[in-house]
Parts: sequence; structure tokens; C-alpha cells
Amino acid sequence: MSFYVKLGKVPPKRHTTFYKPDGKSLYREELFSTIGFSGIYSNKYHIYMPTQVEQISELDKKEDNIWYDAPLQYYHFFTDNKQSKGDIFSSRNEFLKNSHCILSTAHISEEADFFYRNSHMHELIFIHHGKGEFLSEYGSLKFDEWDFIIVPKGTTYQIYFDSYENVKLFIVESDTPFDIPKHYRNEYGQLTEDAPYYERDFRVPEFTEPIDKKGEFKLLLKVSNRIFDYKLPHHPFDVVGWDGYLYPYIFNIKDYAPKVGKLHLPPPVHLFLKTQQFVVCTFCPRLFDFDPNSIPTPYYHSNCDSDEVIYYVHGDFMSRKDVKEGSITLHPMGIPHGPQPGKIEESVGKKSTDEYAIMVDTFAPLQLTTNVKETMDDNYSQSWLENGND
Ligand SMILES: [Fe+2]
Repeated sequence: MSFYVKLGKVPPKRHTTFYKPDGKSLYREELFSTIGFSGIYSNKYHIYMPTQVEQISELDKKEDNIWYDAPLQYYHFFTDNKQSKGDIFSSRNEFLKNSHCILSTAHISEEADFFYRNSHMHELIFIHHGKGEFLSEYGSLKFDEWDFIIVPKGTTYQIYFDSYENVKLFIVESDTPFDIPKHYRNEYGQLTEDAPYYERDFRVPEFTEPIDKKGEFKLLLKVSNRIFDYKLPHHPFDVVGWDGYLYPYIFNIKDYAPKVGKLHLPPPVHLFLKTQQFVVCTFCPRLFDFDPNSIPTPYYHSNCDSDEVIYYVHGDFMSRKDVKEGSITLHPMGIPHGPQPGKIEESVGKKSTDEYAIMVDTFAPLQLTTNVKETMDDNYSQSWLENGND
């Protein structure tokens, strides 16, 4: 995140003595950093040493879920047709992945009795349905529907929902950080006047009192496809204060301010966040292009360097037929794609769209999991043949 935040108690200088109220024992400073020691970082001050662990074991590995002989073709699949009961960890269903990212959904049906830390990947958690509180060493983030929670790798967290009746998350994991694109920031790091969002749109953690509690605390730690079970001797949310630029934060998709042109503008105008291996764009309600002869839907195109994934959130998507809320389409690199039959003609003269969708364009090819095979629309790949062959 590109803002400095300070919460709770921190000493006047880094790397200096910082005594507990007894005046004898020290708080434990932890530097939480990225890109070695060259990226953004925060300093956290713990009551207990953050290195303490009593016991480490490994959970059974999940079965290999890759659909190895998936053909190179267009895909449309219904993520709501694959619902696994469980908590933030066990309810996740992976659909698309490569060595840099994993795209999954989760219909969480129960509260977790453990803390969770993704050690290898940053997480972008889109709250499609649900409302609750995200707790971490950094404090509390209250969230609501259509919030993105951006969680840096290595963050220990818990996520609570007010109700587990209808919870649906779309989760994107990335091995490199989710960054605000450089061209949205000026040389001082502040968001520019023409960025599609403003500093006020981002919500940062609120301070919560440190929990000074010894006992037995379970932490599940994910590294690639391995899950470790740590038994901690103290509550992990024992931070009395922290400061820096690295922390979880929230942005709501409705706060994205889309740009409109005279003629169709390409997807980069919808850019939200980028990583080193893919970009995340949001499609939000907007006025269409205002030239009287403009065609609002996209032209047929070959994006030779990206696999294009769209997760559909809400509304009538202008270029697709039969997509539903929770649908995902995948248009792989190397084959052209574009509006389905009738959609171009239908769009001419239209003034606006009420769609909400999230696009992930990866620079390396994605592998499909067997969950795609289970939930896919078998007719999608040939759906451009409808209504004749023009
Ligand atoms: Fe595209």
C-alpha cells in the first residue's frame, strides 16, 4: 500500500529499546518486509517473540486437481455449481492456476477454529456475498459485500462473517504483491488526479488492543501446495503497535471510477491493481462511448500475451450471453475472442451498462483444474456459430 500508517504504541526510533510497563522486559520488534529489505515494510511490536512455536506438523496433501488434457479452447463455467462446505481454508475450490497465481472461490459455511497465514502468496479476497470482520496483527477491518480485501503474504489472520448462510468469495492468490500501478501515482507516491480512485477510497485497519494470552493456538500456514499446522504458545495478535506501508487493506469495487471515451477504450483503462505476473481490472457501471456511430462492445481481438479470465459479479454483461452471477469465462492466449453473436448489433445506440465484473489477465498460461471440467458450459466454445456463420 502506498500510505504510511501508524497504530498503537511504537518507540520514537526503530531498533531501540522499547520497554513493557514493568520497565525491565522488552517488547519484541519484528520487521515485516518485501523484496528482501528493499520493498515496502512495516515494523510490529509484539508482547512475545514472534518466533515461538511449540510444535510443527504437516497436513495431508490435497489430491492433484489439474485437468492435464484440457483442450485449448474458450471456457465458460459456473463456480456456484461447485460448493464445498467448510471454513476459509477447507471450502476453497481452485479453478485456474499457474506457478504465479491461483484463482478460486469459497462458499464458507463455518467459522475457522484456527489462525491462517498464506506464507507464499498474497491474497486478493473479493467478498461477493457476506459481511463481517477481518482480524490480523494489524487490527480490525470491517468488510461488506463487494469489498476487496488485499492481504500481504505472511499476514496472520482470521475472518468472521455475521452469518454463514450465504457467503461467497472469489480469491486470487499471487506470488508477487498486488500493487497500485505506477502511472496512477505521482513521483511522491500520491494518487494522481486522473487515477480511477483516491486515497479516501482505501480502508486501513483499525487498532485493536493487543491480546496478552498464553495457551495453545493453532496456526495453519500455507506454502505452495503444502499446509503446516503450527502450535503457538501465545495468541498471535499480541501487537501493541506498528507502523509502515505494509498491511492489509480494503477497497470496494463500487468506489472504482471508470473512464469513458468517444470511441471504445481498451481494457487497460479498467486497470485496478497489477502484479509482476498479471493484472486485475474491474468493469463497473458506466456510460458508453459517445460517438453516435461507436460500437460499445469490444472488437474481436487476440491478446497474444495474456490468458483472459473474467469473474462476473452482477448485471447484464454487454458482450456475453448466458453468463450468470458467479460465472467465469477463460479466453486463452493464441486464439481470438470477442462478443457473441448478436451482441455487437444489440449494443449499438445503447447509452450505459450496469455490469460489474473482475478481469484477471495472466502473462503465463493457466492450467485448468477438474473443477472447471465439472462445472463448464459444454456449448460455450462453439457458441459463436449460433445465428449463422457471419
Ligand atoms: Fe479480451
